[in-house]
Amino acid sequence: VRNEEMDRLIPIVNKLQDAFAIMGGTAPIDLPQIAVLGGQSSGKSSVLENVVGKSFLPRGSGIVTRRPLILQLFHEPSGEWGEFLHKPGEKFYDFDMICEEIEADTARICGKNKGLSTKPINLRVYSPDVLNLTLIDLPGATKVAVGDQPSDIGKQIESMIKFYVSKPNCLILAVTAANTDLANSDAIAIAKEVDPKGERTLGVMTKLDLMDRGTDARGIFTGESQDVPLLKMGYIGVVNRSQADINERKTIQGARDAENAFFEGHPGYADIADRLGTAYLVKKCSNMLLKHIQRVMPELTADLNKLTASKRKELADIGEEDPRRTRMDITEVILSFSDQFKNSIDGKLGENQDLVT
Ligand code: GDP
Ligand code: NA
Ligand code: MG
Repeated sequence: VRNEEMDRLIPIVNKLQDAFAIMGGTAPIDLPQIAVLGGQSSGKSSVLENVVGKSFLPRGSGIVTRRPLILQLFHEPSGEWGEFLHKPGEKFYDFDMICEEIEADTARICGKNKGLSTKPINLRVYSPDVLNLTLIDLPGATKVAVGDQPSDIGKQIESMIKFYVSKPNCLILAVTAANTDLANSDAIAIAKEVDPKGERTLGVMTKLDLMDRGTDARGIFTGESQDVPLLKMGYIGVVNRSQADINERKTIQGARDAENAFFEGHPGYADIADRLGTAYLVKKCSNMLLKHIQRVMPELTADLNKLTASKRKELADIGEEDPRRTRMDITEVILSFSDQFKNSIDGKLGENQDLVT
């Protein structure tokens, strides 16, 4: 499934990354990341997969995600494959094998049972359809130690989760299953702690299809409900693949179609269906990324300007006949890049300025 909203961001983020590469170690700015926060089996891994538009994360009832997964996506026009940090040089072209390797390495570090670990799995996915972006799949916050886990495992996991979501460049998807109590959502409690101004947190309600017959979550999305923890950026409802869908290997596109049909056919959601669902979530995420980029642009541009000025001076100080002149070719490249970069980013950001928030 191509995410058109994300596609639009690819050239912008690629240029940013080029700019960072040219500035080397001096770049003060982190590229944005997206992390999922929420209770066990609330649907975090499912939501993340939908944002990527690919199936390869282990999902299921119970504690499936038992270590953080740092997923770096790289836009790569020539093909599609995955690589693990713990298996250098090995390319995985089959995404089912990626899923199996995540499970195998989780078992290697955490044991086969319900053990958890704060040690991350690092996976890189190269694809023509993705944006250069880091996604973080996190275990749910747990309170009780199981089996031979240290008794403070709950605390360890919570501080590991906070380590990731506290970073100012981390966009938080605070996930709550619609068939559980939103007022007591751990996800939202943690999100409010690390992002008190609510600038980088989006509420995501999953499992709308599993709510009791005759009930719906409409008021959460329209703002009419009382007792809903206030999130500045609001809430989006989604329907992910159920366990039966996963077992039957329903495709992501099939799931998207079923999700749309669900919202459009539901009396509580039909009139707000354009503000619900995975496609809208992806759009929101891409807008949040764009906002983040807009926030960091002044600093980045200032740094590029400084670099450019110093290189111009170096060039001016070296005479035409000087043998050092050839070395300065690279400087020319930097100068022309920085001009092009600023022009193209200005244009792109300008085009997108009227996006919904
Ligand atoms: P996580 O533990 O928070 O990462 O949750 P998972 O993504 O692993 O999902 C847990 C289980 O809930 C899986 O069996 C999913 O198929 C199922 N699930 C997730 N979201 C939905 C949803 O919106 N509707 C339904 N029916 N099942 C869902
Ligand atoms: Na789960
Ligand atoms: Mg998970």
